[in-house]
Order: sequence, then structure tokens, then C-alpha cells
Amino acid sequence: MVSEMRAIVTYREIIKEDLVIIRLVPVNGVPKYRTGQFLTIGLPIPAEKKIVRRAYSIASHAENKDYFEFVIRWVRKPLPGRVTTELFYLSVGDEVFLGDPTGAALQISEKLPNGEKDNRRIICVGGGTGLAPFIGFAKHFHATNDRREVVILHGASYIDELSYRRLLTDLENESEKRGRSEWNFRYRAAISRPKEFYNRSWSGPVGRVESFFKPNKKTELSPVDEMVGEKITPDNTIVYICGYQGTIDGVIESLDSRGFVTEHEKNPDGSFGIKFESYG
Ligand SMILES: Cc1cc2nc3c(=O)[nH]c(=O)nc-3n(C[C@H](O)[C@H](O)[C@H](O)COP(=O)(O)OP(=O)(O)OC[C@H]3O[C@@H](n4cnc5c(N)ncnc54)[C@H](O)[C@@H]3O)c2cc1C
Ligand SMILES: NC(=O)c1ccc[n+]([C@@H]2O[C@H](COP(=O)([O-])OP(=O)(O)OC[C@H]3O[C@@H](n4cnc5c(N)ncnc54)[C@H](OP(=O)(O)O)[C@@H]3O)[C@@H](O)[C@H]2O)c1
Repeated sequence: MVSEMRAIVTYREIIKEDLVIIRLVPVNGVPKYRTGQFLTIGLPIPAEKKIVRRAYSIASHAENKDYFEFVIRWVRKPLPGRVTTELFYLSVGDEVFLGDPTGAALQISEKLPNGEKDNRRIICVGGGTGLAPFIGFAKHFHATNDRREVVILHGASYIDELSYRRLLTDLENESEKRGRSEWNFRYRAAISRPKEFYNRSWSGPVGRVESFFKPNKKTELSPVDEMVGEKITPDNTIVYICGYQGTIDGVIESLDSRGFVTEHEKNPDGSFGIKFESYG
């Protein structure tokens, strides 16, 4: 028996023709959940005469009881995706069905195996709409005055797909203003198709997002080491990844020689340095 809530569309922002930010308000209020979780959105598909459900990462934080936010790609190839096509035709005021928030893969690690607080630097790696859970992270850490160092890395093909660029830039600027002992936040984006005309104004990092972890052959330091000012290790950093399997594998491969293991393959003492959720 699927437990479901009815929810109303209250906000819709088309970022580009196939990318939308959408807010949904459950009629009985936002339930308790953990930042980083996902839920299913269900929509009636007229041709199939049934409700079809798909998983979407929650891009808002658990302290926000006003709405759930999502960033969703309209899947168009090779055939239009069933749920995303219906989603893109929704208007403010329309109704959808939501499953209960679920998933532990991207819940934030608060404790180390020895029971001490997990105060390691947090690096979040989002490929495309895989940024979604990390918007929830950023808002959660900000809302709870968390002093841990947070780095968000986003990869997109085109500059207009850097969906939360303004919010994340503002959060980094706030860090500079207030001082890193108060709010320690960094944001970097990489564009993977820099040669395309549409990206001609981009002067930032290029390549897929996992290239932030590739060490320079001479210095053995990666762009991410340079950014945080030290070599990242599983003792000083925990890495969260969401995106294509290729993104996840690329980051894991670069960090393997530094002793990073995933939560699925913990060390004998229960420690790990990587958590991930894949699109698959
Ligand atoms: C944990 C999790 C979190 C997720 N979070 C997000 C998120 O935050 N944002 C987001 O945008 N997505 C997210 N997704 C992906 C999402 O769940 C859906 O898979 C996606 O939106 C496509 O759903 P759809 O019904 O539109 O496509 P579907 O109808 O399921 O189609 C899927 C693919 O199959 C192809 N296809 C469909 N029918 C055929 C056919 N007859 N023959 C050949 N190919 C066909 C489509 O072209 C498409 O490429 C997440 C997935 C998971 C597992
Ligand atoms: N939690 C989840 O599991 C979750 C969350 C969000 C979205 N999704 C689903 O993921 C799918 C695609 O997401 P998207 O449209 O946001 O991605 P996208 O915009 O097409 O791509 C984002 C970035 O990933 C790169 N990329 C493409 N294929 C890759 C691969 N095989 N390995 C490594 N990197 C790759 C792209 O590089 P190029 O420019 O070189 O192509 C681009 O830089 C959608 O179907 C979406 O519904 C799942």
C-alpha cells in the first residue's frame, strides 16, 4: 500500500525550456523528513489511465515547513518522458500526488564511528539536476548556523543550466563578509561544453564536475585541494555525490589512492569518506 499526500503546485520557474524549479505544498502540511531525501511525484498519465510515479530529490531543507522544492529536467529523448512531460504542463494550483520522503544515501553524516561529532569539511558534487539535494544541504547548514566548511561543486553542459548560481554565489559572498569562522561556504561550477557558442561568456572552470578532483601531475594537488588550501583526506573531508554513475565513478577513482572509501564499503572501524546517490 503506497502512502501518498495530495499536494498543490504553488510556484513554477522555467529556467530554460527543459529545466524547471517547482514548489509543491502538501494539503496537510510538509511532513517531517531529513534534508537530502527524495520522494515520488505521481501524476495521472491520460494515455495509460493510471498514476505514474517518479523519484525526485528534495531541493529544499527539512526546516522549511512551507513547501517542497524540486529542480526537474524535462526528459525528451529518445521519447518524451511520461512524468516529466506531464510535469511541464502543470500550472500553479494544479494537484499532484507525493510519496513519503525517503532515502538514507544523502543524509548528512553527523557522527563519526567513535561517537564524536563529524566536523569534517563537506564537499558536495552535483552533476546537472544532481545539484538538487545539495541546495537542501546549503539551506540546512545556513538555517542551523552550522560552522562546518561546506563546498558545493556543480557541473552543467551550459551556463543557463547553473540553476542555483545566484543563491550559491550569494552564500559564498556572505562567507567573505561574515568571516569563515561564522559561515564557511564555497561554490564552484564547471561547464562541460565550453566550446559551444552559447557558453562563449564562460571564463570559469571547464570539463565535467569530477575534474575538480583530478590531481596535477607535478604538484599532486587537485583544483579542490588548491581551493580549500590543503590536500583533502578522509580524516578532514567527507564527499557527497549525486548525478550520473560516470560522475560518481570519476570522483571515487580520483579519491581512491587517498584512502577514501564509500559508505557501502566502510573500513573495518566503520569509517567512510564518500556518500552518493546515482541516477540509475
Ligand atoms: C533517487 C532519484 C532522485 C531523482 N531526482 C531527480 C531530480 O531531482 N530531478 C530530475 O530531473 N530527475 C530526478 N530523477 C530522475 C526521475 O526519477 C525520472 O527518472 C526522470 O524524471 C524521467 O521520468 P519520466 O517519467 O519523464 O521518463 P520515463 O517515461 O520514465 O522515460 C525514461 C527514459 O526512457 C525513455 N523512454 C520512454 N519510453 C520509451 C520507449 N518506449 N522506448 C525507448 N525509450 C523510452 C525516455 O526518453 C527517457 O530517456 C531522480 C531519480 C532517482 C532514482
Ligand atoms: N538523485 C538522483 O538520482 C537524480 C537527481 C537529479 C536528476 N536525476 C536524473 O538524471 C538525468 C540527467 O540529469 P541532467 O539532465 O540534470 O544531466 P545533464 O544536464 O544532461 O548533465 C549534467 C552534467 O553531467 C555530464 N554528463 C553527462 N553524461 C555523463 C556521464 N555518463 N558521466 C558523467 N557525466 C556525464 C554532462 O556533461 P556533457 O556536457 O559532456 O554531456 C554535464 O556536465 C535525468 O534523467 C534526471 O531526471 C537523478
